[in-house]
Amino acid sequence: MKALVYHGPGQRSWDTVTDPTIIDPTDIVVRIDSSTICGTDLHILKGDVPDCKPGTVLGHEAVGTVQEIGANVSTLAVGDRVLMSCVSSCGRCRYCKESRYGQCLGGGGWIFGNLIDGLQAEYARVPFADNSVYKVPNGLNDEQVLFLADILPTAYEVGVLNGVVSPGDVVAIVGAGPIGLAAILTATLYTPGRIIAIDLADSRLESALRFGADTTINNGREDALAQVMELTDGLGADVAFEAVGVAQTFELATELIRPCGRVANIGVHGKPATLHLEKLWIRDVTVTTGLVDTYTIPRLMKLVASGRLDPTIFATHRFALGDTMSAYDTFADAANTNALKVVLQGSERDSSSNGHISASVLAGAV
Ligand SMILES: NC(=O)c1ccc[n+]([C@@H]2O[C@H](COP(=O)([O-])OP(=O)(O)OC[C@H]3O[C@@H](n4cnc5c(N)ncnc54)[C@H](O)[C@@H]3O)[C@@H](O)[C@H]2O)c1
Ligand SMILES: [Zn+2]
Ligand SMILES: [Zn+2]
Repeated sequence: MKALVYHGPGQRSWDTVTDPTIIDPTDIVVRIDSSTICGTDLHILKGDVPDCKPGTVLGHEAVGTVQEIGANVSTLAVGDRVLMSCVSSCGRCRYCKESRYGQCLGGGGWIFGNLIDGLQAEYARVPFADNSVYKVPNGLNDEQVLFLADILPTAYEVGVLNGVVSPGDVVAIVGAGPIGLAAILTATLYTPGRIIAIDLADSRLESALRFGADTTINNGREDALAQVMELTDGLGADVAFEAVGVAQTFELATELIRPCGRVANIGVHGKPATLHLEKLWIRDVTVTTGLVDTYTIPRLMKLVASGRLDPTIFATHRFALGDTMSAYDTFADAANTNALKVVLQGSERDSSSNGHISASVLAGAV
């Protein structure tokens, strides 16, 4: 089969590799129907993720069709359409039993496209399948659920839920990349009073307005702290999300929060950031951190099915899976291409994977 293989910092290619097979009895093999690229894949290509060894197939987000099932898989059948989560769950360890799959001690966690071969491929082996994939409800097409593999649960769990967004809150989001935008989208489920998006790129701020932000601030030109204070009678935001992953934006998030407010850090930090306890202690500020667990995928899928949540606005570009190399070029050059998420479409996906909606509409008409 063909797959996107990481060959060390700066090097990737679309290679012919061995077809995946069942190794453990809890595995399945899926045909990839739709996949996508994450900012984390770009981090791997920069050499920032040393655990990911050259020769690994990249990708940790996909929708596919089950081709083979291991002897101990009991909830899935050949032909099922499933969403693969970016985080796998052994289902047995202490953390999995608490739905903290990101911290799995039994061989799960973020393994796809990192510790084992990933999902930017024609086929993939999926470990711990009963616990780690989600059946796609009939009537939902691939693009409606694909972004529930990573960015939506990340923003929702590590941002909105950790930050306890509540009706009427002023929510400030520092960084309006795919994660910040997903935080805006899922924060709107809680009817905040005002959503303020802060970014250096005007194109990202324009996207933020489309995703549900009420106010945008370009902190390259404007004083974000002063503006947030002006908008909140000098108090600050109720909730702030850090969705960039650098010290400066973490510190900004802690500055623009009101006393008793909540800062939810979502960004992945490669370098230390200063926690100004000398200023924060007296303001009763809560700071949370987190790695996504994806325990909210079923809830988010229900919201998509009921029409309350529409993740398809992330899909800015579509490529055939065989053009994954070009898709990377487009995704990595987001400043010029305005890419948010690129969809990689498998050639063998049957038309029903994007035709379920019209099929069910027809059935309804009958
Ligand atoms: N916690 C988790 O489980 C988890 C999971 C996935 C991703 N992440 C992290 O979330 C972060 C955001 O991911 P993404 O895919 O949206 O990244 P991205 O790089 O696509 O977007 C980051 C955005 O931040 C903006 N930005 C950069 N510097 C800024 C500054 N100084 N002030 C304001 N805005 C600035 C950029 O213009 C861009 O729009 C990353 O650090 C990523 O690694 C965390
Ligand atoms: Zn990711
Ligand atoms: Zn586990």
